[in-house]
Amino acid sequence: MAFALSCIIDDRGSYVGFDPLKEQIAFSIENIKHEKYAFHCVDLRHRLYNPNGVVDPDTYKFPAADNSIDIVISGSVLTHLELATAKHHLRETARVLRIGGKAFYYIFVLADDMIPNNSDITELFGEIRKWSGPVDQNWCFRFARREDGFWTNCNEDGSPKCNFMKDDVGDPMAFEYDFFELLAMREGLKVDAYLPGAWCRERYEHSSLDVVILEKT
Ligand SMILES: C[S@@+](CC[C@H](N)C(=O)[O-])C[C@H]1O[C@@H](n2cnc3c(N)ncnc32)[C@H](O)[C@@H]1O
Repeated sequence: MAFALSCIIDDRGSYVGFDPLKEQIAFSIENIKHEKYAFHCVDLRHRLYNPNGVVDPDTYKFPAADNSIDIVISGSVLTHLELATAKHHLRETARVLRIGGKAFYYIFVLADDMIPNNSDITELFGEIRKWSGPVDQNWCFRFARREDGFWTNCNEDGSPKCNFMKDDVGDPMAFEYDFFELLAMREGLKVDAYLPGAWCRERYEHSSLDVVILEKT
């Protein structure tokens, strides 16, 4: 995304990106040369990506002034954040966006028909491997209800599955659609569009993850 945008953004615009992963930020700095680009490696603590990080992700201020940003892209970040951190991420998104600005959130959304009536576990099969590599099995996502409309990766018996990087699915988090909409609305962000992704569906239309586009009101 950062690379693609570097072909579009001219000197009237700018781009700022951040992540706790040193290697990825170093790669971006090395490979995306653009005068108006800034990449920040922020030592954000994350249970799996950066367990010894010293920056608290629940209070971290995004590197941008209030009402200064046209577009925020959060690419598969809330797929791996604890609920409190995800709420803060939305709050910061709303702070930095100008009124009418948009945020693209790539996340796992549980639509109504993906939530069972009589169980706190949902199993979802996608055919994502057909596009991403050799097909040896369909990709299965299994989530357990944790709180409100927040679900996390689990084993067959519903116990938390914490083996990030050791399996193909990782330790994803998912949001019920209504719950995510509510969290966004609380921060002054309204849903502008919801584009269901291919991760648990048969057709690939625009992306593997679901995309929720939010607008600052
Ligand atoms: C699944 S990866 C997605 C990477 C990239 N955004 C993309 O779309 O390919 C999740 C990323 O979120 C980063 N991350 C972890 N905690 C974060 C936080 N509190 N705020 C922002 N990013 C965070 C991780 O370091 C990791 O690079």
